[in-house]
Amino acid sequence: MCGVVGYIGGRDAVPVLINGLTKLEYRGYDSAGVAVLNDGRINICKTKGRIQNLQDKLLVNPLQGHVGIGHTRWATHGVPSDENAHPHPSGDRKIAVVHNGIIENYMEFKEELEAKGYKFLSETDTETVANLIDDYYRSGMDILDAVFKVLDRIEGSYALGVLCSDFPDQLIAARKDSPLVVGIGDGENFIASDMPAILNYTKNVYLLDDKEVALIKADSVKIFDADRNEVKKDVFTFDWDIEAAEKNGYDHFMLKEIFEQPKVVKDNLSRRFDSNGKVTLDGIKLGKEELANINRIYICACGTAYYAGLIGKYLIERMVRIPVNSEMASEFRYKEPLIDDKTLMIVVSQSGETADTLAAMRLAKEKGARVMGIVNAVGSSIAREADDVLYTLAGPEIAVASTKAFSAQVVAMYLLTIHLAQELGKMDEKTTMEIKGYMEELPSLVNNILAKVPVIQRLTQKYIGSKNVFYIGRGLDYIVGMEGSLKLKEIAYLHSEPYAAGELKHGPIALIEDTTLVVGIVTQEELFEKTVSNIREVKARGARVLAIAMEGNKEIEKYADDVFYIPRTHWMLAPLLANIPQQLFAYYMALGLGNDVDKPRNLAKSVTVE
Ligand code: G6P
Repeated sequence: MCGVVGYIGGRDAVPVLINGLTKLEYRGYDSAGVAVLNDGRINICKTKGRIQNLQDKLLVNPLQGHVGIGHTRWATHGVPSDENAHPHPSGDRKIAVVHNGIIENYMEFKEELEAKGYKFLSETDTETVANLIDDYYRSGMDILDAVFKVLDRIEGSYALGVLCSDFPDQLIAARKDSPLVVGIGDGENFIASDMPAILNYTKNVYLLDDKEVALIKADSVKIFDADRNEVKKDVFTFDWDIEAAEKNGYDHFMLKEIFEQPKVVKDNLSRRFDSNGKVTLDGIKLGKEELANINRIYICACGTAYYAGLIGKYLIERMVRIPVNSEMASEFRYKEPLIDDKTLMIVVSQSGETADTLAAMRLAKEKGARVMGIVNAVGSSIAREADDVLYTLAGPEIAVASTKAFSAQVVAMYLLTIHLAQELGKMDEKTTMEIKGYMEELPSLVNNILAKVPVIQRLTQKYIGSKNVFYIGRGLDYIVGMEGSLKLKEIAYLHSEPYAAGELKHGPIALIEDTTLVVGIVTQEELFEKTVSNIREVKARGARVLAIAMEGNKEIEKYADDVFYIPRTHWMLAPLLANIPQQLFAYYMALGLGNDVDKPRNLAKSVTVE
């Protein structure tokens, strides 16, 4: 949601904060600000809009100092405005706070503080935190005690950075249910919501756990648990390159990330199969014995990761013959799910920090389930709390619309399915070797699709005036359509719906008219005839049809206006390939419509509030 960054050390703080905020802008971009401590005063510059607006404002009113905090916002409490932008100072500017998360019981404190004469300038929950710290501090408490006292009282989620003008040599940070790392430099230290913000300066961090508080000076970091006991933590070193968080000549992160997919697929397949085709997944300790004890599987996730989970459900049920419930994490907790110690809970998440996914995982764990995380962000909360972790080796994904992380999640689902099938004796060596052969071709097949960008550009030009877009298919094709439709909504802002092709007649066909585009996905040959009937039905009602089919399928040309061919592959691997033209279609559609592809309106990459 929001991005938090902080710096203390020998450098001028503002450029470091701005650099960090630029890297965190994917987390929220409706307002931004920095606070810097200098000569015993906290100076703040903040504004509605993008980081560029903040930079413009700082050119007119430059701020100097060697300790500071910064924030880029995705509004929850209060509209995007200069007043609601962070950092928020206490009434007399003794304290300044940046915050990611939601303080659920802030009204309680606001009234209490107002009764004591505190005035509020914003509509945010965060401003109450600044004033509450101030109130305790003024009552004679040590500043660290005041922060602990406030953390004891607030309910909700937070990643906080706190400055106090009486302590120009320190910065305080705390987290609960929102990510925060402490970056360790040489004579300088940092805080950040996410690693890319500080990757220019250090790869070494302390990963703060829930309810931990860090007291950070230029040359020391002390971390305390909720009971104020000092905790010793291991230094975690990220092996990401700085280039991984840069555009490297591409116009947008999204395009760069789409083009990284051959490598991502390759990295995820590397060293997974032995010469007999047996799949080994480091970090997954689910052998025959453990599996014998499991009678129910849930796969839980949000957004794009949820669709990867649906592919997993389809494949595990079809190939391993175990029933799997696939659930949106935001719904899961409220339906009293059937969980016990015979449940395997698989959560899928790029960030490893999505609030609903994390909460679903914690609930399952509490009720005795074994929890597996399929996660991209190394060291994230899900990665740390899961019993088993399968990392999707996609590197940092910056564009809000997920592309390479999805492909990596889908490969993880393929590998997991094969692994489970092998452990339970549901897949013979011949089948494994056949699928392995097809999987090894995937990186070059993805490359072949990427070489057809001009074809996609031509198709987007043709269909850019569409008012409604339906994505239809059956089985795996239907699931792929869900992801295609989501991409189009997210960045092209086009109304679009995925529909199981056979369900069209039960209502949505009433919406079909000649401004409707239907993307018909027909990679699953056993379902081809059925989906073709549905394609004919929409054609008969005026829709234009763009089909995605496997090479060699000439029949589809009789019914569709256009066909985008993906290379031939095994049926279970087709979703990965069929999704690549969908990503490019959404990308070029968004570009054609003049949208900001990497920072689509109203969205944020990491949804750390419920
Ligand atoms: C947001 C992002 C999506 C992502 C979803 C789940 O909605 O915009 O791209 O799929 O969150 O995020 P996660 O980090 O858990 O995969």
